Amino acid sequence: NVDKIKELIAKRQEARLGGGIKRIEAQHQKGKLTARERIELLLDEGSFEEYDMFVTHRTKSFGLENEKYYSDGVVTGRGTIDGRMIYVFSQDFTVFGGSLSETFAQKICKIIDEATKVGAPVIGLNDSGGARIQEGVRSLAGYAEIFQRNIMASGVVPQISAIFGPCAGGAVYSPALTDFILMTQKNSYMFVTGPKVVQTVTGEVISTEDLGGPEVHASKSGVSHFLTDSEEEGILLIRKLIDYLPQNNLEEPPIIRNDDPIDRLEDKLNEIIPDSPNKPYDVKDVIRYTVDSADFLEVQASYAKNIVIGFARYNGRPVGVVANQPMFLAGVLDINASRKAARFVRFCDAFNIPIVTFVDVPGFLPGSAQEYGGIIIHGAKLLYAFGEATVPKITITLRKSYGGAHDVMSCKQLRGDVNYAWPSAEIAVMGARGAIEVLESRNISKITNEEERVKYLQEKETEYLEKFANPYQAAKYGFIDDIIEPRNTRFRIIRSLEALANKKQLNPPKKHCNLPL
Ligand code: COA
Repeated sequence: NVDKIKELIAKRQEARLGGGIKRIEAQHQKGKLTARERIELLLDEGSFEEYDMFVTHRTKSFGLENEKYYSDGVVTGRGTIDGRMIYVFSQDFTVFGGSLSETFAQKICKIIDEATKVGAPVIGLNDSGGARIQEGVRSLAGYAEIFQRNIMASGVVPQISAIFGPCAGGAVYSPALTDFILMTQKNSYMFVTGPKVVQTVTGEVISTEDLGGPEVHASKSGVSHFLTDSEEEGILLIRKLIDYLPQNNLEEPPIIRNDDPIDRLEDKLNEIIPDSPNKPYDVKDVIRYTVDSADFLEVQASYAKNIVIGFARYNGRPVGVVANQPMFLAGVLDINASRKAARFVRFCDAFNIPIVTFVDVPGFLPGSAQEYGGIIIHGAKLLYAFGEATVPKITITLRKSYGGAHDVMSCKQLRGDVNYAWPSAEIAVMGARGAIEVLESRNISKITNEEERVKYLQEKETEYLEKFANPYQAAKYGFIDDIIEPRNTRFRIIRSLEALANKKQLNPPKKHCNLPL
């Protein structure tokens, strides 16, 4: 019996070495952690329970029958983050380059199945050379088994993917199906086809970095949601993100203790809106001044910067924040901003996270590039997402809220629960200049004297501004519930969230919606 226990301990030790010391050293030399080191950092100390450590592949060709490693290139199991249950898989690059075999896929499927059954988040740490070439179609089938589970788990338990190495070919689609993707500055890349194939097929010469590096996905494609300098920072960020999320779609997000006074008046907010309507300010200041302890976890910070999204808390209660950013493109809605915010709103709604929306939007970005790109469909996504959402929705209009964009940004008629405006709000069909040019074009064309024309335009603009560029028209009809003093915004949001805490709203039964995709 003693010998059997010794055998077990020896086998475990062997398994923990993955592809062997040499390959572990090579991994470290690249500045990468091993699969097990990553799990250790991610989970609470001593909480990891490993599954399927003794699984090995079943391939009997290419000499692989003589080369087997315990765990078969992926470490899976469960553990806790701040005491809350999490399921995790961590691809081990030291075993066949972390490439995916049939058994490797089965291990991942097992933990997604179990996580869905018990209602706990799934975190995938990716570092893989893709399909295990020697396994052929069995490997492709393995990917599809995982995809199907990602799809079934979507909206049921949070799914988070970190990319700590290569992630190419079919492998990209599992992270793509999850809720959040995190990349690191070094060693992290994702693409459907690598630079060599790109060159062969299209003739384009491009580096790995420029094709699918972290900067590309953070700022150009919007594929990744978070970018950190190191793996360690990335893992800490995942722990922080998990803190905002419920375990599953049937739970509420965790409320934590809050020491920031709920009635804190923020005088700076009374002065934040510049006197000139075309001058920008940073909407992130508005967010930071109002949320608990100025703590805001921004999502997709470098992509479509004209809209800001992220997580924060009000009196310890997690919320998703959506805000137009006047600092970029004057805060207009365009294709990318609409898609970015729509996905986020739908995530929050799926996981019972209330949405706080700060509005300062001059409209949609005009032009053929946007129209040809399908802004009609993409803008509709955000509109749909807000209208479909049944979580508490609080909207604060800070300044401009013009035209169709006004409707899109969680207006009252899209079942906005509480819609406030600051006195600086301008809720109208369009800005004064545009409106006057339409309404007065006939009169303007009759004035030949330039000076007189400018004077006439200015007079008409002033008239329009006085009449429409304020929140009182909207408040008159009850489209705005109250006009509030900016410095009191935090308190008003907190009280509204508390009032809405037990909100229950259902959409009609359907197989699924037909979101304009
Ligand atoms: N299938 C089987 N083994 C693989 C593999 C795969 N898809 N990808 C990598 N490996 C193995 C390598 O043979 C090597 O084995 P060894 O340690 O016994 O020598 C080990 O993993 C490490 O790979 P290596 O190429 O030395 O590492 P690298 O860091 O220089 O390059 C990649 C990493 C991912 C860029 C490179 O391995 C690669 O291009 N792999 C193939 C990617 C691919 O096309 N996959 C299929 C797409 S779905």
